[in-house]
Amino acid sequence: MSRSPLPAPAPAPPAPSGLNLKNIQGDILSGLPKKTETWYFFQISNPTKFRKDFRNFIPLVKSADGVLEDRKAIDKHKRQQGGGWKPHLIPIAGVNVSFSHFGFQKLGIDDAKLIDTAFLTGQRIDAGANLGDKGTGTGPNFVPDWEEPFKQEIHGVFIIAGESHPTVDKKIQHIEQIFGLGNASSIKKLIAIRGDVRPGALSAHEHFGYLDGISNPSIIGFDTNPPLGPAPIRAGAIILGHDGDLNKDNRAPWMVDGSFLAFRWLFQKVPEFDDFLNRNALQGPGMTRQQGADLLGARLVGRWKSGAPIDITPFDDDLEIAADPNRINNFHFTAETNFQKLCPFAAHVRKTLPRADLEFRGISLEKNRIVRRGIQFGPEVTKQEKVAKKTFHGRGLLFACYQSSLTDGFQFIQQSWANNPTFPPFETTPETPGLDPIIGQGPNRELSGYDPNDPSKVLKLDDLWVVPRGGEYFFSPSIKAMKDLIAAPT
Ligand code: HEM
Repeated sequence: MSRSPLPAPAPAPPAPSGLNLKNIQGDILSGLPKKTETWYFFQISNPTKFRKDFRNFIPLVKSADGVLEDRKAIDKHKRQQGGGWKPHLIPIAGVNVSFSHFGFQKLGIDDAKLIDTAFLTGQRIDAGANLGDKGTGTGPNFVPDWEEPFKQEIHGVFIIAGESHPTVDKKIQHIEQIFGLGNASSIKKLIAIRGDVRPGALSAHEHFGYLDGISNPSIIGFDTNPPLGPAPIRAGAIILGHDGDLNKDNRAPWMVDGSFLAFRWLFQKVPEFDDFLNRNALQGPGMTRQQGADLLGARLVGRWKSGAPIDITPFDDDLEIAADPNRINNFHFTAETNFQKLCPFAAHVRKTLPRADLEFRGISLEKNRIVRRGIQFGPEVTKQEKVAKKTFHGRGLLFACYQSSLTDGFQFIQQSWANNPTFPPFETTPETPGLDPIIGQGPNRELSGYDPNDPSKVLKLDDLWVVPRGGEYFFSPSIKAMKDLIAAPT
């Protein structure tokens, strides 16, 4: 492992949008660079001590500006390594922090002007009321079928990303030292979950095998050279207090430059999903069972495993399209003309960003855009699991996304689109879209459009392959808010 020190950071170029990149946490706009990432959920056990300790913690926090510097250092390091067979990674860690509504309450901070009802309610109750998670009880007494730590009140989360476990573990130790250990600590650790990118060529693929992280919104004034695809959005759709934040004029000053974070601990039943594709493989002249299974999988996701969109290449994967940043995301679902022939209405990428399905009616999707920053967790599928067609080891996605409104962003996408069998609505087709087969939750698990030759045919989904086992809503404050509001005065 190379231990060369990082080059001294050069001053950051001013952001043309007026975004203060030194004030915005790094994970939001460009994502902390990571091969591994630990999500460390905590309760604040001693608010007075916490505020004092927090002042010592702030210098650890990586800003958007800091991430840009890290990325430059990584690029330089890669060039110096000459793209060898297995280049050594430069040791880089990034730390961010976010608080739940209950965390702000514990600290005595009035967060009412964050306005967002999902945030103020918390995800545990929202899971029953709006997200469709399984559980017992109703209303405020809803208890989701989640892992125990997430049934408790969570006050905050540290995100610690890096290129290796030792680098991240060292940072975690540093954080724990700052907040104190044992009875003297101002925090109580509830759970720390480690995520890791998948090995080798699968590194950017989620556990079902599909390339992920392709379609995040380009942000005007931040992404200077956006590839072809959905229209770039104003920064305020993600960052509070800027144009595009629908509550811009009602925010308290400390909220500016912050963003809401939705976290979901999603377990994926990979052998069961593969078995379903195999059992229901599409058939066609000269098509093998594996090709039929691959085609069905692509129609459920809306993309081939390579990332190539089926709206452009409906019958065969196309690695050239997948490798071209100006083609991989440049499709629009032209609903009026092709209905479900190219892409099922319920396909995951169509449900979660319906593009022209709504835009052709003059409906802007800007307020529903989210920036996704997840990472995989758990081991690769074992031989034993493949043979048994059954999951024996927990694996899946630490799903995370940022937005300036949870009720228009994550919560809306899950509730009003993915879980809604009649979305997207078309007056001119008799076909009911059905649920998002990847993340949709609801009793009637089926979708139409899976068979390109007869889009009216309905496929029964006999399992739930993505199972939520925890989550919370957080607010990722600006660095100024950390200093002026959260930390104790010096
Ligand atoms: C384990 C669960 C999930 C898996 C396996 C999964 C997988 C994928 C894949 C393979 C893509 C296509 C690659 C890309 O465009 O980046 C994608 C896109 C997307 N997913 Fe998910 N996803 C999951 C959970 C979620 C959740 C919970 C949401 C939000 C409620 C979500 C929202 C989106 C959005 C907005 C896109 C981009 C759509 C577009 O812009 O075309 N995903 N997901």
